[in-house]
Amino acid sequence: MRKIQFFDTTLRDGEQTPGVNFNTKEKVQIALQLEKWGINVIEAGFPIASPGDFDAVKAIADNVKKMTVTGLARCQKKDIDRVYEALKNAVDPQIHIFLATSDVHMKYKLKMTPDEVLASIKEHVTYAHNYFEKVQFSPEDASRTKKDFLLESVQTAIDAGATIINIPDTVGYSNPTEYGALFKFLIENIQSEQEIIFSSHCHDDLGMATANALAAIENGANRVEGAVNGIGERAGNTALEEVALALAIRKDFYACQTTIVLNETKRTSDLVSRLSGITVPKNKAVIGDNAYAHESGIHQDGVLKNPETYEIITPTMVGVAQNSLPLGKLSGRHAFSSKLEELGYQLSESESKEAFKRFKILADKKKHITDNDLIALIADQHREE
Ligand code: KIV
Ligand code: ZN
Repeated sequence: MRKIQFFDTTLRDGEQTPGVNFNTKEKVQIALQLEKWGINVIEAGFPIASPGDFDAVKAIADNVKKMTVTGLARCQKKDIDRVYEALKNAVDPQIHIFLATSDVHMKYKLKMTPDEVLASIKEHVTYAHNYFEKVQFSPEDASRTKKDFLLESVQTAIDAGATIINIPDTVGYSNPTEYGALFKFLIENIQSEQEIIFSSHCHDDLGMATANALAAIENGANRVEGAVNGIGERAGNTALEEVALALAIRKDFYACQTTIVLNETKRTSDLVSRLSGITVPKNKAVIGDNAYAHESGIHQDGVLKNPETYEIITPTMVGVAQNSLPLGKLSGRHAFSSKLEELGYQLSESESKEAFKRFKILADKKKHITDNDLIALIADQHREE
């Protein structure tokens, strides 16, 4: 079965979330949890960015044993030198070099001609390859780059020694059909004697980061980049937990294997949420508080009969203790009775019917019915009987 590598950039692109700033100790803590989660490559940071970032990348390289550790560099020798310094003790170091290739970035941001961009890719990938066996190159804004120029840029990087090609959808502009086709086109057209790993890197500006990453995998990408809880610039990066679960739950469709330890997912998500200060939305796929909660009567009845009726992911599979059946105005008799039993009540048929009537009246007025509400409701009923 095909193996898909997971590349986590929570500590680099994820830290680009406005308001997020991890210190070195927190970064090492997250890195060690990512290792337990089964991540293959960790992007520990951007060493040239600040002395703190350099120290954090170095500390991670010193502590991590099983993951490949990578640091980010622009096409500049001083950036590459800094990554080399920071990763000296890494068991398995990799450098990640990027340069923008879209017209808008070349003209306005870089103020470079396409030929200058190609020359810079050649010079800096070659330079990095002197120090690193594993060189990853990213043509930034790849999805808005002219296709032929993208191919030329990627081929230039490969000829200069890059063996990992990452195709960033930097501004979340692409869609699954287009992004998948881009991988197919590049994979079919590059020339290399060495095996090249293609990697996806998506942003969620149009809410398609996970779908785009999966489309890349369907079209030959063997590595997926993303961040825990999907944190990152603007609308964020691909949420890695979503890709991991999609590949696991739909193995019938994707036929891929990963090294992700699924039942460490919730723990990983909670840690990143706590240390980043970015709360996970309740309805977030896989790890949101409501992901395993069923409120309507029809759903609760189905789940009580067989969870598979409305659950495609068993909560324990991702490290969530159990599902929940919160009671609200749409809840049915089955879930209500089951809750009362859980609270230790054994009501007769007529008592239970009356209690359910009272519960519905209360639920019309109150969004969340707590255990204490139910205890009070039964006590009132008994008093009045
Ligand atoms: O989104 C992007 O283009 C990036 C690159 C640095 C890979 O994060
Ligand atoms: Zn990015």
